[in-house]
Amino acid sequence: MELTPRLRAIAQQVPQGSVLADVGTDHALLPAWLLLEGRIPAAIASDLREGPLSRAKETVEQHGVADRVSLRLCDGLSGIQAGEADVVAIAGMGGETIAAILEQAPWTKENTLLLLQPMTSFPDLRQWLVENGYRVEHETLCQEGSRMYTVLTVRGGQDVPMTPAELWVGRNTTQPLRGAYLSMMEGKVRRALDGQKASANPDQAMVEQLEQVLSGMVEMKKELKA
Ligand SMILES: C[S@@+](CC[C@H](N)C(=O)[O-])C[C@H]1O[C@@H](n2cnc3c(N)ncnc32)[C@H](O)[C@@H]1O
Repeated sequence: MELTPRLRAIAQQVPQGSVLADVGTDHALLPAWLLLEGRIPAAIASDLREGPLSRAKETVEQHGVADRVSLRLCDGLSGIQAGEADVVAIAGMGGETIAAILEQAPWTKENTLLLLQPMTSFPDLRQWLVENGYRVEHETLCQEGSRMYTVLTVRGGQDVPMTPAELWVGRNTTQPLRGAYLSMMEGKVRRALDGQKASANPDQAMVEQLEQVLSGMVEMKKELKA
């Protein structure tokens, strides 16, 4: 079984011997791969909907790991108790959904490694984490075709406040993809800013915020080059 670069970036963060809960598992490729590799002894694979969960069942049966995967139909972490998993992965969902799932499960602040891979609303998710007793330990970038993704490695704890640019793109690291990621996100911010400025009724507060984000990103790119 081959994982896509995005799922591989998540899998690489899962410590040997840990029990994984994959929330919003859909195809269950992540837990199935980790079990086949001998990285984890057991997993919980949960999803909100029956269709994805039956896909998960098919995958784990097809790969002969069904006896080590507990399939759960539930919203977020509502069907998973504290202490059942050492690592919780929530991937391929909007940042606001990820925050809403964690809000309902404060036990994830204790003895739990969180691997979060948002598709949207990155600033909202990072802000929520910092304000709600979580610490972003690091972020891992990966690329699939023309798309880039970030995986946040998070634990309960006190984080230092993030600058507006850090909320958008995380903290600067020397990862090889960091420069390309900053350029891609800078493009997004510039387009949002141009859209605001071209509108008949620009949102001035938004314009100021985006300008702050942009100047922070430009500084980050300079730091990275230096
Ligand atoms: C795009 S798929 C991502 C699948 C996989 N995690 C990945 O990253 O490839 C999103 C999955 O999350 C599930 N989902 C959405 N909201 C959820 C929630 N509140 N609780 C559990 N699962 C949820 C959806 O049903 C869907 O199967």
